Amino acid sequence: MLILGGTTEASAIAAALADHPRVRPVLSLAGRTRAPVLPAVPARRGGFGGVDGLAGFLQAHDVAALIDATHPFAARISQNAQAAARITGVPVIAVSRPPWIAGPSDRWTEVPDMPAAAQALGAAPRRVFLTVGQQELAPFRLAPWHHYLIRSVEPPDSALLPSAARCIAARGPFREDAERSLLEQETIEVVVSKNSGGAATAPKLAAARTLGIPVVMVARPAAAPGDTVPDAAGALAWLDHVVAPWERGV
Ligand SMILES: NC(=O)c1ccc[n+]([C@@H]2O[C@H](COP(=O)([O-])OP(=O)(O)OC[C@H]3O[C@@H](n4cnc5c(N)ncnc54)[C@H](OP(=O)(O)O)[C@@H]3O)[C@@H](O)[C@H]2O)c1
Repeated sequence: MLILGGTTEASAIAAALADHPRVRPVLSLAGRTRAPVLPAVPARRGGFGGVDGLAGFLQAHDVAALIDATHPFAARISQNAQAAARITGVPVIAVSRPPWIAGPSDRWTEVPDMPAAAQALGAAPRRVFLTVGQQELAPFRLAPWHHYLIRSVEPPDSALLPSAARCIAARGPFREDAERSLLEQETIEVVVSKNSGGAATAPKLAAARTLGIPVVMVARPAAAPGDTVPDAAGALAWLDHVVAPWERGV
């Protein structure tokens, strides 16, 4: 079976299947992270070459089930997964963690995309904690009057940075007390985040809430149509249903 990964959930699913008697998992990564932390299962890296390439891969490797456990903002690969599964008849499930929802003490401005997030920072210079990943920095280059503290898993290409930016490389999960200290030490005035959901990076939102710091929250792209489960456990339960007929020799 093929697990489309790059997330905590994908790694958890792969690790849970590492010693499965009937399933041989392969974890697929886009290859964006130079030094990913990998579970002990076979892995491949790099794109498939669109829908046709992925469909060809599923057929060539006799893939019997496909789990799309990519990030909620990785819209293209999820669309491709659904289309390739339709073409080949391979059963597919998507893992989609629930989005974060603002509580009464949160000061969120919700925006539809990254250019809108850059615009929402306003015309007056602010100290911004930018946690949107290393691939989505371009719109912030158009608002160079802010000072950006950029956190990503690996340092971004310096050519992509806004002029007043400092980078820190760090991999979650993060702790709320450490997030609060960081926001205070850096005198952060506004946080920019994707609505990724999940527990690993949520502590920055709790810290912002406690300190009364506003958050510009970028909404998710439209989800690909198809069946979804909210977490790794849901995907493993779905897989049990797929595998059950094999166990009966059907
Ligand atoms: N976007 C985020 O905010 C974010 C955050 C954390 C982790 N990630 C992870 O980073 C990866 C890339 O994200 P993205 O937003 O660039 O994706 P994307 O825009 O949906 O995908 C762009 C292209 O990258 C290739 N690709 C993406 N995920 C792949 C995978 N797991 N295995 C093999 N090829 C893959 C596919 O190329 P082909 O068309 O050639 O097959 C796809 O068409 C994903 O694995 C995602 O789970 C993304």
